[in-house]
Amino acid sequence: MRAHEAGALHGDFTGLRPSWLTVPVDVNELHGYLWPQNVSRDDRGELTVAGHSVSELARQYGTPAYFFDEGDFRTRCHRWAEAFDFADVYYAAKAFCSKAVLRIVAEYGFKVDVCTEGEMVVALTAGIEPSNIGLHGNNKSDSELTLALKHGIGRIVVDSFDEIHRLEQHAAALGVRPQLMVRVNVGVEAHTHEYIATAHEDQKFGFSLTDGDAYAAADRIIRSEHLQLVGLHTHIGSQIFDTSAFEVSAQRALRLHARLQREHGVNLPELDLGGGYGIALNSQDDPQPPEDIADGLRAIIAEESAAAGIDQPRISIEPGRSLIGPSMFTLYTVGTVKPVRLSGGTGRLYVSVDGGMSDNLRPALYDASYSATLASRADTSTASLARVVGKHCEAGDIVVKDEFLPSDIAVGDLLAVPGTGAYCRSMGSNYNHIPRPPVIAVTREGSRPIVARETIEDLLRLDVG
Ligand code: LLP
Repeated sequence: MRAHEAGALHGDFTGLRPSWLTVPVDVNELHGYLWPQNVSRDDRGELTVAGHSVSELARQYGTPAYFFDEGDFRTRCHRWAEAFDFADVYYAAKAFCSKAVLRIVAEYGFKVDVCTEGEMVVALTAGIEPSNIGLHGNNKSDSELTLALKHGIGRIVVDSFDEIHRLEQHAAALGVRPQLMVRVNVGVEAHTHEYIATAHEDQKFGFSLTDGDAYAAADRIIRSEHLQLVGLHTHIGSQIFDTSAFEVSAQRALRLHARLQREHGVNLPELDLGGGYGIALNSQDDPQPPEDIADGLRAIIAEESAAAGIDQPRISIEPGRSLIGPSMFTLYTVGTVKPVRLSGGTGRLYVSVDGGMSDNLRPALYDASYSATLASRADTSTASLARVVGKHCEAGDIVVKDEFLPSDIAVGDLLAVPGTGAYCRSMGSNYNHIPRPPVIAVTREGSRPIVARETIEDLLRLDVG
């Protein structure tokens, strides 16, 4: 066994680690619910994806890199499509937006939710039917609105009176009559991080249900000869595990839906319940299977529609993370290992990798708690409490805050972090002028980049001096 020059860190980790993180019996074990289905360890203990070893992939593509288990993603898309066969599923492209992934979701009959011109253009370039694209955003520009109208984007989810006014003018000028949804702020406090909860009262999205704005926005569109109202839209936040919040949200939106039908005689055909379904990032997370989420939502819509005496609207949902998140992991190379001793005799290993907050901002931004494993080999040493950190000049540059890793983890080892398919590459930055990592799709047949590695030359090209 190799040992650190500074000696091993031993002892009682209580107090230094969160209570859900237990000392592992086998530090090499892969928890099935955290890893893509085609990831396993080979006979020598090295991590493989669809039969390709991580050391071979690292040699070919370098690190850090996101590896995308395409078969795993296809299985998940199939499962969500089956579970939600009564609904329209819009893949939320903000989670991860690339032509290859948008083409795959379209194969499973999903539509695509975009929220900027950039995402809309990627979807159009990927060949997504414009009528299968939904456009979001609380501050859509005139050029975004006119691009959507010119292409015949399927639906635009409006977020302010100002936007309704501008859309009416653009639609009249272009001689089109777009289909709109009203984003309703249903006032639900979802149990998630404050920054990713979107339906409590004091935030920027949607029209409030309580002060009558949601009704007024719908009324305004119904009366317009240039606009069509097709339904209401709700989205209560992200990384939510408790489906009762979705039920309360659906219930409140349906009551407004019923009121509009009673008072205007309009039978709105659709209701969108948004995205936000949580995924496991570590051993404490316990997400619901899509079948259970679908059953819960189907029951509440049937019940509430019957109670309100209205026809059931067609449901749509907008999952992003729950589709793409679990299908990728990030592979890093360990650059330094530093045992940091604390007074009282405890301490932890600080394991620095060749990426950091520029390829996964979520721990710094939301306190997200990921997990990690030594990927290039299995290990027989003891487990040490560790913290995986990046190479940025910032103390908050943490990739995995609390994890047990082999105590002899060493410079040059490969380390993998699962669950990084959503909001990691898409929120990546060039902080400290670190080029963003590539995304490599891996199947049994082989591997290919679907997003290339950014280079220092790419960064210099933009620096026009
Ligand atoms: N629909 C709407 C209107 C949304 O705003 C979002 C996410 C989604 C669908 C997809 O939500 P998902 O199923 O992926 O949770 N960057 C953050 C989350 C903010 C996402 C904003 N909207 C994160 O890293 O957790």
